[in-house]
Amino acid sequence: MEAKRWLEPFSTDVQADGTLTPERLTGEQRLSHLRAIYEAVPESMPDQVVYRVYSMPVPERASELQTCTTVLEPGTVGREYFMTKGHFHAVRDRSEVYLGLSGEGLLLLATEEGDHRVIEMSKGTVAYVPGGWAHRSANTGSDPLVFFAAYVGDAGHDYATVLERGFPILAVMGDDGPRIVENPRYRVSAA
Ligand SMILES: [Fe+2]
Repeated sequence: MEAKRWLEPFSTDVQADGTLTPERLTGEQRLSHLRAIYEAVPESMPDQVVYRVYSMPVPERASELQTCTTVLEPGTVGREYFMTKGHFHAVRDRSEVYLGLSGEGLLLLATEEGDHRVIEMSKGTVAYVPGGWAHRSANTGSDPLVFFAAYVGDAGHDYATVLERGFPILAVMGDDGPRIVENPRYRVSAA
């Protein structure tokens, strides 16, 4: 039989808490998976889920769009807010759009040269992430930060570069709210 030329159209409902119907949980990151991104994780902290990703099932090719929702729990490690691992796209020039669904947070962006930007995220924020910018989200509120993302289908994820070099800036809890500070662990270029 001849292979179908086009994908079958489909729909998914996003719940207020970011989960999808039908259920599409594809990834769960616990604190123990994320130790390397924080300055120090106290041994006394429970190994809780920091964020979950719910993805639509679409082939990873440039003709499609990948879409997912992320639910990032509130919390801190020391003064650093709970955050996602952060990544460049493996294909560097691939872009992405975020839509805030609930909660409060910051979208941190950085180029490989160390240039950086911050976008405040809340319900209704549409953030455009151009190609070349690594992106990481931090939950600065007391409720889960939930956002939807759509990106070019073959973008892929390069987590290693951010893990090796760190991110140039950090979102930390200040005396009167979130603050952005330089990351002392950041290395401008890989050794
Ligand atoms: Fe991305």
